[in-house]
Amino acid sequence: MLAALWIVGLASVFVWQGGSVDRLRIFRLTPPARPAPLRARALDLRTSAVIRERRCSDQVAGGKGGGQLNVPAGKWLTGPFNLTSNMTMFLAQGAEILGINDEKYWPLMPPLPSYGYGREHQGPRYGSLIHGQNLVNVVITGENGTINGQGRSWWTKHYRKLLNYTRGPLVQLMWSRNIVIANITLRDSPFWTLHPYVCKNVTISNVTILAPVFQAPNTDGIDPDSSEDVVIENCYICVGDDAIAIKSGRDQYGISYGRPSTNILIRNLVVRSNVSAGISIGSEMSGGVSGVTVENVTVWSSRRGLRIKTAAGRGGYVRNITYQNVTLEDVRVGIVIKTNYNEHADEGFDPKAFPELCNVTYMGIRGRRVRAPVRIQGTQEIPVKGVTFRDVEIGMVDKKKKDAFECAFIQGGPLGPSPPSPVLVWTVMMRRAGW
Ligand SMILES: *[C@@H]1O[C@H](CO)[C@@H](O)[C@H](O)[C@H]1NC(C)=O
Ligand SMILES: *[C@@H]1O[C@H](CO)[C@@H](O)[C@H](O)[C@H]1NC(C)=O
Ligand SMILES: *[C@@H]1O[C@H](CO)[C@@H](O)[C@H](O)[C@H]1NC(C)=O
Ligand SMILES: *[C@@H]1O[C@H](CO)[C@@H](O)[C@H](O)[C@H]1NC(C)=O
Ligand SMILES: *[C@@H]1O[C@H](CO)[C@@H](O)[C@H](O)[C@H]1NC(C)=O
Ligand SMILES: *[C@@H]1O[C@H](CO)[C@@H](O)[C@H](O)[C@H]1NC(C)=O
Ligand SMILES: *[C@@H]1O[C@H](CO)[C@@H](O)[C@H](O)[C@H]1NC(C)=O
Ligand SMILES: *[C@@H]1O[C@H](CO)[C@@H](O)[C@H](O)[C@H]1NC(C)=O
Ligand SMILES: *[C@@H]1O[C@H](CO)[C@@H](O)[C@H](O)[C@H]1NC(C)=O
Ligand SMILES: *[C@@H]1O[C@H](CO)[C@@H](O)[C@H](O)[C@H]1NC(C)=O
Ligand SMILES: *[C@@H]1O[C@H](CO)[C@@H](O)[C@H](O)[C@H]1NC(C)=O
Ligand SMILES: *[C@@H]1O[C@H](CO)[C@@H](O)[C@H](O)[C@H]1NC(C)=O
Repeated sequence: MLAALWIVGLASVFVWQGGSVDRLRIFRLTPPARPAPLRARALDLRTSAVIRERRCSDQVAGGKGGGQLNVPAGKWLTGPFNLTSNMTMFLAQGAEILGINDEKYWPLMPPLPSYGYGREHQGPRYGSLIHGQNLVNVVITGENGTINGQGRSWWTKHYRKLLNYTRGPLVQLMWSRNIVIANITLRDSPFWTLHPYVCKNVTISNVTILAPVFQAPNTDGIDPDSSEDVVIENCYICVGDDAIAIKSGRDQYGISYGRPSTNILIRNLVVRSNVSAGISIGSEMSGGVSGVTVENVTVWSSRRGLRIKTAAGRGGYVRNITYQNVTLEDVRVGIVIKTNYNEHADEGFDPKAFPELCNVTYMGIRGRRVRAPVRIQGTQEIPVKGVTFRDVEIGMVDKKKKDAFECAFIQGGPLGPSPPSPVLVWTVMMRRAGW
């Protein structure tokens, strides 16, 4: 059955790109018998000298768009390729797409308009392994097959400063809508793993995202960026940077692009981020972030639990954020709002573009073995307004430590008949901070 699907898939979907033959010549130590074989050979990475790059851009289904790309069990090495509208990519059980880790096969693209520059280098950036622009109705699913970015060589080159352009994400969909990504595993991305950029109506469900928790730089799990109507649910994410980071562009570029992230629901996740945070908002939030609900999420063995970060120069706002039924286990700092994350694209930012932070609710938060439960550091220029704590109980590692709540320039308070005892400390701290 699968074999039959695969042949159909290949015949109608995979098209050998004539134009790329030159670039691929060095790999073709043995020329293929036919220019467009019906069935690609499974690649044995240990012995094969032949690497085939396959493309499935808008040639899918004869150039009209649409169709299903079936990836059967086995390892499939490929260069970056583009998806098309009305398309399903199906990764069978035991299927693994491996991203080629030689950067000369990665196309360069202009920087994202809301960032102005690549994150690591000025000028263009590498595209993503699996990419799409201006798409409608795309499904990436399967029987828990894997897309593996083979990130290690990228991370090593990044540390050794051997790259001239910003690394590419594993999956990046831009200016697209009606997207479903479900029932797959994403592993070892060179950079951010899954990046919906200016997308609308995106569902990410039953996805496992993995990268080493240490020395896998910038391997964020999911970065909803200037996107709206996004659901992220039933996922397990354990990566080398933020598990989830909601963004909307940076400084003057993000302010003038002006596309917020809004209406985002994150639920039923288990996440781990040894070096960064479980659920992050920012620091790039210049287009604004609002209407985020995080519920039934467990953050374990992580540096930060729930974090919002921003800085002067960012502009924008973070509003209407609700966290409920969140469990924090073995986390260094549980709840964090940081307003002086001063990392900028360039010197052209407006230091008086102060972001607005308001209406952030923490409800039903449980913590065990947390070193510092709450650290909310507003400033005179960027106060944190309308913070609500209700039914928050965080067990600390060091029971003698008094400052469970370290707060400055914060306005708000606990709700409910019996506020948890640390709130007493919090009230005192608030008064000390002048509110
Ligand atoms: C996608 O499919 C819909 C419905 O069949 C069709 O109206 C639309 O034109 C297709 N879009 C593209 C880009 O092929
Ligand atoms: C994918 O599409 C983008 C935008 O049109 C283009 O820049 C890029 O080169 C394409 N990638 C491939 C592998 O064809
Ligand atoms: C999918 O595969 C990943 C990686 O092998 C595994 O950790 C996860 O448990 C699998 N998910 C399901 C639902 O089987
Ligand atoms: C980076 O640029 C230098 C100098 O132009 C060049 O020698 C090197 O090959 C480039 N490296 C990559 C990975 O493109
Ligand atoms: C959102 O996307 C899903 C999946 O493509 C689709 O079924 C649904 O109709 C879309 N919702 C809206 C409001 O467009
Ligand atoms: C994902 O798997 C579940 C359970 O097997 C199934 O109900 C669902 O339809 C699948 N999702 C997609 C988009 O194929
Ligand atoms: C995720 O899995 C659950 C349980 O198997 C299923 O009900 C749900 O439809 C899946 N999500 C998607 C988007 O397929
Ligand atoms: C909460 O999330 C966990 C882990 O994802 C899941 O097993 C559980 O069913 C969820 N609970 C509810 C009430 O949805
Ligand atoms: C915040 O929520 C309130 C009430 O639901 C709504 O009136 C307001 O527009 C929301 N603000 C933002 C920025 O989403
Ligand atoms: C992160 O990993 C390092 C090295 O493995 C370990 O020493 C540290 O305890 C871990 N931190 C957390 C918060 O798990
Ligand atoms: C704050 O956010 C909550 C939840 O999104 C909403 O119900 C409430 O109306 C908002 N309050 C204001 C003042 O915006
Ligand atoms: C939160 O947990 C409580 C107690 O387990 C439960 O009653 C409530 O329904 C949960 N709420 C959400 C939104 O998961």
